[in-house]
Amino acid sequence: MAVAAPADHVHPAWLPAQAWRAIGSRHTLVSGTEKSVATVYAEVRAACDRFGGSVTRLSVDGEADLMLALTGAAGPGATAGAVDDLGEEGYTLGRTGGLTTVTADAPAGLLYGLFHVVRLGESAFGDDMATRTHRPAIRRRMLDHWDNVDVHPVMGQVERGYSGGSIFWRDGAITDDLDRVRAYARLLAASGVNAVTINNVNVGRTEARLLTDRLDDVATFADIFRPYGIRLHLSVTFAAPMVLGGLATADPLDEAVRDWWAATTAQVYARVPDFGGYVVKADSEGQPGPFAYGRSHADGANLLADALAPYGGVVHWRAFVYNHRQDWRDRTTDRARAAYDHFAPLDGQFRDNAIVQVKYGPVDFQPREPVSPVIGAMPATRLAVELQVTQEYTGHQLHVCYLPPLWSEVLGFRFDGDSLEADGDVSGDLGSSVAAIAGRGGTLAAVSNVGDDPFWCGHPLAQANLYAFGRLGWDPTADPTALLDEWIDLTFPAGDAAGTVADPGRLRQALHAMMDGSWRTYERYTAPLGVGFMVNPGNHYGPSVDGYEYSRWGTYHFADRDGVGVDRTRATGTGYTGQYPKPWSEVYESLTDCPDELLLFFHHVPYDHLLHSGSTVIQHIYDTHFAGVDEAIAMRERWLDIADAGLDPALYARVADRLDEQVRSAREWRDQINTYFFRRSGIPDAHGRRIH
Ligand code: GCU
Repeated sequence: MAVAAPADHVHPAWLPAQAWRAIGSRHTLVSGTEKSVATVYAEVRAACDRFGGSVTRLSVDGEADLMLALTGAAGPGATAGAVDDLGEEGYTLGRTGGLTTVTADAPAGLLYGLFHVVRLGESAFGDDMATRTHRPAIRRRMLDHWDNVDVHPVMGQVERGYSGGSIFWRDGAITDDLDRVRAYARLLAASGVNAVTINNVNVGRTEARLLTDRLDDVATFADIFRPYGIRLHLSVTFAAPMVLGGLATADPLDEAVRDWWAATTAQVYARVPDFGGYVVKADSEGQPGPFAYGRSHADGANLLADALAPYGGVVHWRAFVYNHRQDWRDRTTDRARAAYDHFAPLDGQFRDNAIVQVKYGPVDFQPREPVSPVIGAMPATRLAVELQVTQEYTGHQLHVCYLPPLWSEVLGFRFDGDSLEADGDVSGDLGSSVAAIAGRGGTLAAVSNVGDDPFWCGHPLAQANLYAFGRLGWDPTADPTALLDEWIDLTFPAGDAAGTVADPGRLRQALHAMMDGSWRTYERYTAPLGVGFMVNPGNHYGPSVDGYEYSRWGTYHFADRDGVGVDRTRATGTGYTGQYPKPWSEVYESLTDCPDELLLFFHHVPYDHLLHSGSTVIQHIYDTHFAGVDEAIAMRERWLDIADAGLDPALYARVADRLDEQVRSAREWRDQINTYFFRRSGIPDAHGRRIH
């Protein structure tokens, strides 16, 4: 098998040729049946061809520096891929007597072990290392592509995509650049991702047909992802029996509907035997669902789960269900409550292969939201936690916004309250954390930020978000700063050769200065204290304080001349705080205990309300907005400082351009937010800075 190299104009992301130097210049033995080690062998072979090393299969001729061995039934002489205690994806890695050894029970595990060696680079071949076992904490690490097959008149080829077109589809047809897809599969495997959906959760007429008469396209992609241990999933429309099958109903309890799904699913598996399953957005933002028939979401999910069960497939059923035709005058309806109100009562009613997929916050991927209470409320249901790598609400990949610190806080949040002290440090023990719940349910999902842009993600530095998502799915306790180091070392390898940087320490320092705190910087210059959604309606980029205030979407801030924030208390508000178990139900209810960063999510307070930080709400708004812009300017200066670091000129220029836009946009945010609240409150800035 040939290893896919992206076309010359496509950036190699975290797998540049130089990242393979340590392996490619040594002698490697790959042990296992030809078929089972094909991908690993091809990767090492390609590295050796470039760097002069050698690779043999089955027998050691002379000395080896690296041994990659499939054990058990998948090992030498065997034909099947039987699995022992390392599981499908686990591996061991150690070094003794000058030999670095990776063992695994199954092909995917061996591949993950190989990529571990790639990450270690030269240090994989230094001192002895005790043999350690590595297994993923979360079974399924899934990227959901919101790619449309047809170009959608409003949303385009990729919904909420900021990286050009789709790598899968173009104008209704399958892409003709399958090498690009292969290169993508390889990048994903190196980051730890093992599942993808290739079409948008909003399923149009053309997209619906992937399930039936466009199965060839699905099989083409599945064949590309398979060698990299990645399974393919499809977003399907709940109305498929009507849209595709010509039935008069999609009622989940109707026999003909059940038969249609069973027969259709059988055909999918006949074509793609390791097909992963379905992803469904139902009764959400206009998508059809079981409510039309007076049925519950458990009825809906179980219908598809039953169709998938004979083949080991799963349905990811999204909990993103709320009334998107709300009357802003109605103060009793609270969008934040909706997912819990719909789903928590159904706990225990879902089939084992139905996974309820919950966005990490109760509203919609805002830069700051409390953790969704649904995640803690369904102990008898398998859950997937959904993150957003695409920067819909975090700067459209025009802004530097390194998201893993946010994800790490979410994954480390404990419903039993221990994380009150944790300060984002998950410290190895998953306890009752969100990560543990996702681990039990089986999936960490995220909306992808990838497109056909030469840098994959629009902003070259946004590649770090994609990389770290996979790595956090493998180990949710991983430190975001350390993951950034990994990404930097792989993406910008040190050395004197072309494509390397001479002073990696200097580059690393600059990137940490720019990226480590960039999510908090973004939070500072945008919507304050967890209130969220002060964005331009529609595209969700840039400030518009009242853009959604009188709209049907249910995302309000209620600012008036006296104060701002949403009262979600049980005492006087919407009662949302009651969806949390103790201690959070009390912490969030209490004006004194509620964390500053979420204050306006839970409470409506006067502008002179004193925060724990010692500042008033209004002064906090001013201070953070001035500081956020200064930080964006400092980021741009750091980048200018490393103009001579030897980076690819196109990459350097792309980042520089985007930093200009980030500074411009941050200023616009600062000025609109500060001016709005100054005019509403009449309270001047304590430091007399310019507000318009
Ligand atoms: C957001 C986003 C939509 C998307 C939706 C979803 O509302 O703006 O484009 O369809 O989330 O998650 O389904």
